[in-house]
Amino acid sequence: MEESMAMLEAIEKRRAYRALDTRPIGEDVLLRLAEAAHTAPSSMNNQPWRLVTVSDENVLESLKEALAPGNYWAKKAPALVAVVTNNSWGMTLGERNYAPFELGMAAMAYQIQAVQEGLHVHPIAGFNADLAKKGIRHC
Ligand SMILES: Cc1cc2nc3c(=O)[nH]c(=O)nc-3n(C[C@H](O)[C@H](O)[C@H](O)COP(=O)(O)O)c2cc1C
Repeated sequence: MEESMAMLEAIEKRRAYRALDTRPIGEDVLLRLAEAAHTAPSSMNNQPWRLVTVSDENVLESLKEALAPGNYWAKKAPALVAVVTNNSWGMTLGERNYAPFELGMAAMAYQIQAVQEGLHVHPIAGFNADLAKKGIRHC
């Protein structure tokens, strides 16, 4: 297959699946996903994103209570990753702050690398951020 087609296929393969495999994901793989995210472009090369990867069973357990009820399926995930930004980390031009846009690009690179690794990533907005922070801090 031509390389251009292979890339399109990888992009199209990315879907927000809910049926998750519970097998652990190797640290080397999780690091490659983070590396992909960190290649994203950013204004002034600010890189206004941070990734908090959780694969430790105890921490995962304490994060489950942060999930919205509709996201019960994510309790099976062998890893959860918080993608974090802050407007003060990004470039601001007038009323336009680019940090969220750049975080989105990093998250997309992360997901495409996951496809390449034979994994699925499902973005989640339905969670309680305060409980999630508490879950991570207390472990
Ligand atoms: C920022 C963001 C937040 C999302 N939050 C949730 C969520 O809380 N629960 C959920 O089941 N899906 C969530 N999704 C997944 C979307 O519903 C899904 O991407 C969309 O329906 C398109 O389907 P596809 O990704 O398979 O193409 C989220 C997606 C994004 C980008």
